[in-house]
Formats: sequence, C-alpha cells, structure tokens
Amino acid sequence: MSHAPVMLKEVLAAIRPAAGEVYVDGTFGAGGYSRALLEAAECTVYAIDRDPNVAALAEKLSHSFPGRFFWLTGNFGDMIELLASKNVTSVNGVVLDIGVSSMQLDSAARGFSFRQDGPLDMRMSASGMSAADLVNEAEEEELADILYHYGEERRSRAIARAIVKARAEKPITRTAELAAIIRRVVFAKDSDPATRSFQAIRIKVNDELGELERALAAAERLLAPQGRLVIVTFHSLEDRIVKQFLQSRSGETRGGSRHLPQPGETRDAVVRVLPPFLLAQKKPVLPTVEEIRFNPRARSAKLRSAVRQETRP
Ligand SMILES: C[S@@+](CC[C@H](N)C(=O)[O-])C[C@H]1O[C@@H](n2cnc3c(N)ncnc32)[C@H](O)[C@@H]1O
Repeated sequence: MSHAPVMLKEVLAAIRPAAGEVYVDGTFGAGGYSRALLEAAECTVYAIDRDPNVAALAEKLSHSFPGRFFWLTGNFGDMIELLASKNVTSVNGVVLDIGVSSMQLDSAARGFSFRQDGPLDMRMSASGMSAADLVNEAEEEELADILYHYGEERRSRAIARAIVKARAEKPITRTAELAAIIRRVVFAKDSDPATRSFQAIRIKVNDELGELERALAAAERLLAPQGRLVIVTFHSLEDRIVKQFLQSRSGETRGGSRHLPQPGETRDAVVRVLPPFLLAQKKPVLPTVEEIRFNPRARSAKLRSAVRQETRP
C-alpha cells in the first residue's frame, strides 16, 4: 500500500513554499511532502531517507522536477553532512514526518508488523543491528528497560523474562514468534498486546529518539533566518522531545521568557540574546476529523513548527 501523506495541508501552511527557496524533506517515504512542495512553488527540495527501497520513487520525482529535486540516502540526523555533499549549507525549511511509512509497515518481509509473519528485522535502513539481533542477544534487564522506556510497557519485566526463556530453547527469528511470546504474558483490551513491545524494539533498533534529537540540533544550524522547522510526530515520546526542544530554543521554558529589553540595554544586546526559534503555535496542530476518517494512521499525529530567528547581531 502506498503511503498517504499525513497532515499535508497543515505541513504546507507551516512551510509556506515560495519560489527560489530551498527545503529539506528529511523523511522522503513515498515522497508525498516533497512532491507537494515542488508543485506548490518553483522551489528546490533535498530529500533524505535512510531506506534504500525508496530510491525508485525518488528517481521518478527527480525526472518530473529536473534541477529542483535531489535525493540523498542517509539519516536525517546527518542532514548537515548530507547537504554539504551537495554544497548546501543553508536552507529555508526543514520538514520531518517521523516514524515508519505504510510501505515499511505493510511489507511482512521488513519485519515491522506483529499482524503478519515475517523475519524479525525492523531496520529502516536494511543495515546494522536487526530486531532479531537485539531480541536474541540483549541481557534480560536491558530488554526490560527498552520495553519500559520506549514502549511504556508496564509488563516489561515479564515480557523480557519470557523472551529470554524462549530464546534459550531456540533463537526467535520471526515476528509471529515474538508476538506469540508477548501475547502469552500481556493482556490488552483495546489493542494487540504486542503493540507497545514492537514499537519499543523498533525505536531501539533504529535509534529513533537519538536521530530525532540530532535532527533538531542540525536543523537549527542549517536554517536561515525566517526558515521554518516543521515536525509531525506519532507518539508521546517523540512529541515530548520536539516540544521540549522547541520550548527551550524559543525561550518558552518554565521560568524563562523571551528576552525583553532591560532598562539601559542597547538594541544590539537584545538581538544577540534572542532565542534561535519563535514558536509558530503554542499547542500542537492536530489532524482534522475528516483526515482521520480517511486515513486512520493520522489519528495520533501532532504537528509542531517554529521559525528560525536572526540571532547574530
Ligand atoms: C512516515 S514516512 C514519511 C512519509 C512521507 N512524508 C510521505 O508523504 O510520503 C517516514 C520515512 O522516514 C524514514 N526515516 C525514518 N527515520 C529516518 C532517519 N533517521 N533518517 C532518514 N530517514 C528516516 C523512513 O524510512 C520512512 O520512509
């Protein structure tokens, strides 16, 4: 199944595409955001994705928008280095649509899904440590910590114990095996009992939270004054990182306020201490009811955005 871009209208409203500007789409996926940006204005888009399987789609887009669309394989946490390879050191917008795409989730062979049996993989980049490596090699305590912190799973210890017991008999190599082990120790009324554990393992395997933190810091360095940072997240752990970053980098943290001129302070001093971002909105923007009806995967989406300020005198 192709990926339906989430909150596309809201993303465009936050980026405000303009002719001559340069944008980074850090999560190309099926190219929904990149295409919409390129169609909205005579702009240039540099798209990044760590998943080599999206190359064919990206290739197609570069033919449709010659000289305006460029494609880079890698992690969005490395966006500064990736763009430097194209001699780009400053951009007018960065957009991130965090998480997995429908193509990744729906392909049993990628091993993300507890609904379909497949190899226990979960690597977006198809390289590095797989979910099977983690599940079969991590210490019981580390597994429990991962399930607790990244899945907010209250039964983390019992699941970790069950995993260690099962793998002592034979390595766990399939998503269905892992899901069955979890379902034997967790009872959930509203969702599959394996949901939280699969999320936790996926986050760990792909270092998703570390990547997000690195991307936010990189975007701050890359964005030109008045550049827009737009991030769509899908669960509370990601949203918390974005919210705290934007609050702290816009002087909105508790106890602090945006810098106001003090008596006797020169204008230069005021400019120098301005925070790097101005929040576009205090509360996250949520998808409309119509979008959720059309695309249930949008239901937990939250969009936050901010505008880069001129902080140098
Ligand atoms: C939700 S999809 C993006 C969908 C896209 N906005 C669209 O409209 O088609 C997320 C994509 O980001 C990629 N991704 C996730 N984490 C990444 C990272 N750290 N670096 C680069 N790409 C990443 C995934 O491989 C996936 O293709």
